[in-house]
Amino acid sequence: MNGKIVILTGAGISAESGIKTFRDADGLWENEPVQVVATPEGFEKDPKRVINFYDERRRVLKNAEPNAAHHALVKLEEMYSDNFLLITQNVDDLHQRAGSKRIIPMHGELLKVRCLGAKEHIMSCTENQPEKCPECGAKMRPHIVWFGEIPFEMERIQKALAECALFAYIGTSGVVYPAAGFKQIAKMSGARVVCLNLEEVGGGYTDEFIQGKAGDIVPRWVDGLK
Ligand code: OAD
Repeated sequence: MNGKIVILTGAGISAESGIKTFRDADGLWENEPVQVVATPEGFEKDPKRVINFYDERRRVLKNAEPNAAHHALVKLEEMYSDNFLLITQNVDDLHQRAGSKRIIPMHGELLKVRCLGAKEHIMSCTENQPEKCPECGAKMRPHIVWFGEIPFEMERIQKALAECALFAYIGTSGVVYPAAGFKQIAKMSGARVVCLNLEEVGGGYTDEFIQGKAGDIVPRWVDGLK
């Protein structure tokens, strides 16, 4: 195949690892209002509540393991090496723990925190978020892209989408932009577009829909590409 394979993953790929999605029944956004825990304004108003929310998610992540879908995407990366890019909206580290290397965590990383000082020091954080930056003493925040903020590495993502021959979006409801618009950009660049999800999501710009649990359908799909 000429051109890149670009994969976009969402919360559904980690569901079978025991990580809650956002918008399914009992999802994260049903239990905690987005405006409170996932916006800069929410953090300004009630930082303790926001910090507790992410500390709790780190505790859950500690007990989770990558599943067959994460592992299958590592196989796919091994097959296509530099012609492969994985973009994830997930902030868990399950792709990285499975072995994915060519990965952009566009919405940030749960196991990192960043200070609000001028230098924006970034450091790893596996449990509770420290109150102050050990480098400069500034307040700390989760290294997460909140609503109203710009996702990371958008230029690199746009370039990959423009060179893309196959684009697959896996386990994402496709309602949060800019990620929700990637399938359209890929389609306009001439890519074949595949959706893998538990349920049908707004299927515009999509050539093929594969329905099922990510842990079943992603390994099968990857084997079929060999
Ligand atoms: P959502 O919770 O919106 O959607 C999860 C999708 O995964 C749904 O379409 C489910 O049907 C599907 N799903 C659930 N279990 C599955 C399984 N076992 N196998 C396959 N699919 C399954 O999560 P995202 O689309 O990732 O952003 O949400 C996008 C962004 O919205 C997140 O990154 C987060 C959130 O607000 C920020 O926090 C900035």
